[in-house]
Amino acid sequence: MLVTGGLGFVGSHVCVALAEAGYDIVALDNLANARLSVLARLREIAGRRISFVRADVRDGRALAQVFRRRPVAAVLHFAGLKAVHESVAQPLEYYDTNVGGTLTLLRAMRQHDVRRLVFSSSCTVYGAPESLPLTETHPLRPANPYGRTKMIAEGLIADCAAAWPELKYALLRYFNPVGAHPSGRIGEDPLGVPNNLFPYIAQVAVGRRAKLNVWGGDYDTQDGTGVRDYIHVMDLAAGHVAALARLESQPESFTVNLGTGRGYSVLEVVKTFERVCGRPIPYEIRERRAGDLAQSWADATLAERLLGWRARYGLEDMCRDAWRWQSLNPDGYPERPVSAAETRRRRSRRRS
Ligand code: NAD
Ligand code: UD1
Repeated sequence: MLVTGGLGFVGSHVCVALAEAGYDIVALDNLANARLSVLARLREIAGRRISFVRADVRDGRALAQVFRRRPVAAVLHFAGLKAVHESVAQPLEYYDTNVGGTLTLLRAMRQHDVRRLVFSSSCTVYGAPESLPLTETHPLRPANPYGRTKMIAEGLIADCAAAWPELKYALLRYFNPVGAHPSGRIGEDPLGVPNNLFPYIAQVAVGRRAKLNVWGGDYDTQDGTGVRDYIHVMDLAAGHVAALARLESQPESFTVNLGTGRGYSVLEVVKTFERVCGRPIPYEIRERRAGDLAQSWADATLAERLLGWRARYGLEDMCRDAWRWQSLNPDGYPERPVSAAETRRRRSRRRS
């Protein structure tokens, strides 16, 4: 298996699940948002060798080299940029990486006859829900450049498969992935101030931040705060293994939501996290965040029907594992990501 973005949050957990299912793995990552130390931890948890290639998914030559050197039956494509507000400020970067990267990958797969693709899509492609729960047939109206890059990449994959029918793909639309591997060795380690709720709460709990800003207390929800379908990253990882198994046994492409089918409010998450970590999470209700939805949750029945998969973990498990990761690694992974340019500078300094 080739796992692009394999050292990132979701990709690293999927690598563990794939290794446990007996697959050989090559992880490819340019370390734009990952640390190399993830690799040693991955190998330790997975208990088997995971090959690693440091490369950019937009580099067709690097992909060709991977495909020439070893048999690759399928690609799981996680490499991408994912911050909504950043995508508004830097649309070209987002289109280049998320759409251009997928295009380069598809071209290399075609050239080397690699016929299976699992793609990380997002519930963001739906935009504001017209009705809940969100089914896969809900219209696609993404409200920001990030969401549009995902929608376009989905279309690109489907168009390629129409022209090259041997290509079979799974488009997996994730809801809100949270939590961490139960070992506490790998987890979510955002750079700078976290945008997302779980890493922010975890950093408050561990003392890195004073209090949580709750964005909006006047939504039309049970307690006025936003409601989301949080899904444990280990459930998400199992969903990928199930999707791959389905592509292997029944060569038919499909698109499914990966969520739990139920939503929790921000305050419900705060209360559960407090209970699990045994510490108070101070918070303050603030103005709504621009672009936020009141509520979103998945209809997760298609995944169950097609893949025989359903989420096993609840909110308490998600909080417990997020807390274990954060408390064992209060400052995240030991080193910060290093850009390719910086690595080249360091090498040339060492040589001179
Ligand atoms: P992440 O940033 O932790 O992982 C992405 C990985 O891709 C990182 O390791 C990064 O270094 C790598 N990468 C980025 N650009 C690259 C490039 N040009 N070439 C090679 N590697 C590159 O993010 P994640 O949360 O693990 O998300 C994985 C995928 O799932 C992304 O495509 C994301 O859009 C999608 N997704 C994530 C979420 C979420 O909330 N985490 C929700 C829906 C969809
Ligand atoms: C965000 C992205 C979405 C992406 C998802 C990944 C936006 C507009 N959307 O969604 O594209 O797929 O992350 O998981 O950025 N909250 C607070 N305080 C915080 C952080 C969040 O109150 O400090 C609230 C939010 O208002 C929301 C909920 O917590 O109600 C979840 O927020 P977040 O984790 O950022 O996820 P999404 O907004 O669903």
